[in-house]
Amino acid sequence: MPPKFKAPRGTFDVLPEQAAQRERLLRAAHEICGRSGYKNIATPSFEDTALFERGVGESTDIVRKEMFTFEDKGGRSLTLRPEGTAPICRAYVEHGMHKLAQPVKLSYSGPFFRHERPQAGRYRQFHQIGAEAIGSDSPLADVEVITLLSDLLEEMGVPGVELRLGSLGSLEARAAYLDELKAHLRSRSDELSEDVSERIEINPLRAFDSEHPGTQAVMEDAPQLLDHLDQADSEHFEEVRQLLSAASVEFVIDPALVRGLDYYTRTIFSFVCDQLGAQSEIGGGGRYDGLIAQLGGPDTPAVGWAAGIERILLALDEEVEVPAGDLFIAVESADQNSKAVALAAELRHHGLVVEIDLAGRSMKGQLKHADRISAAHVLTLSNDGAASLRNRASNEIRDVQPADVLDLIRP
Ligand code: HAM
Repeated sequence: MPPKFKAPRGTFDVLPEQAAQRERLLRAAHEICGRSGYKNIATPSFEDTALFERGVGESTDIVRKEMFTFEDKGGRSLTLRPEGTAPICRAYVEHGMHKLAQPVKLSYSGPFFRHERPQAGRYRQFHQIGAEAIGSDSPLADVEVITLLSDLLEEMGVPGVELRLGSLGSLEARAAYLDELKAHLRSRSDELSEDVSERIEINPLRAFDSEHPGTQAVMEDAPQLLDHLDQADSEHFEEVRQLLSAASVEFVIDPALVRGLDYYTRTIFSFVCDQLGAQSEIGGGGRYDGLIAQLGGPDTPAVGWAAGIERILLALDEEVEVPAGDLFIAVESADQNSKAVALAAELRHHGLVVEIDLAGRSMKGQLKHADRISAAHVLTLSNDGAASLRNRASNEIRDVQPADVLDLIRP
């Protein structure tokens, strides 16, 4: 017996009955981003490992534990992309996009890969849609990208969504705060989880994200970053909040909000959904004003987000019916095949969904097949040249000329 294969752990197949809802989401994202001037970009599924080490950050869980890294036949270290922002910044620098009109506004979708412990809403291959505005430090850009995701979730009808907003300040201004935070963590390091305590020096902010009860208790009295923003960062944050309100986007301020990637500066945000259980974040992002320069480009501020396609679909938890075809053409015998093929081709050119029998079935078998695929109409081509059209819902049957079928069934 040949072995039976299954999709690898943490991956899944998207079956046709699940594809319709996914297509609706991608279309809505494309339209909403397009209406604000975001253009599509696609980057490769793998990149040099060093891009993520440098871009996402060596102290992050993603780089430390979750990357699918392999060596190619030339001995180069490559990594299946765990996220899309570092690759897009790489493309921005590589293609000299700083010479284009700024900001460069990009949107994308595709598969991403993280070696995480699989559970509902968390996979090893998942899909994101995202948007990035590169080349503006204006709070207007923050608000524009946040509004895109807010509009998308509203358009899709995702229930129970909350937008959480925070600010990490600029890199320079954050340094003094981090010293204070590290001192607080060091003073109570015996209460912290091993993971947090190991990373006090390299990534103290992650302590805010910990689910470890001891760490959580320590964080309750921790100094808050929002109280330590410098004037420029505070003003930026204040303006983001005002403009969001002007755009009627509701949000709550979350002083303990942190994110799992190292590149963030100033605004960070997270859309969470109460329908999702443990993996409650549907999408998030923020500013990353230092990343392009860190990847060898000119000093360029930027802001963006990504949302998990599977998480949005899980939150919707409803299947859209696969749209049924418009017409099935049944033939009395193979003599009518040429006519059926020609007519099907013509009607498909006009945008109708038309199927013909591909299995040499009897007339009875063909009619049964038309029922199974739920075709709206069935056209029967007889050997004597006659043709009849049946509306399957009303069961009305009439004799027709094949040339008239288009007008008779066009929706
Ligand atoms: P992220 O928060 O790592 O950000 O991922 C964004 C979204 O991808 C999450 O909110 C979640 O919905 C989804 N996601 C992440 N990991 C998984 C997984 N293992 N399974 C299923 N869904 C997942 C980023 O990736 C940044 N690049 C976002 C960004 C863009 N920041 C600025 N620009």
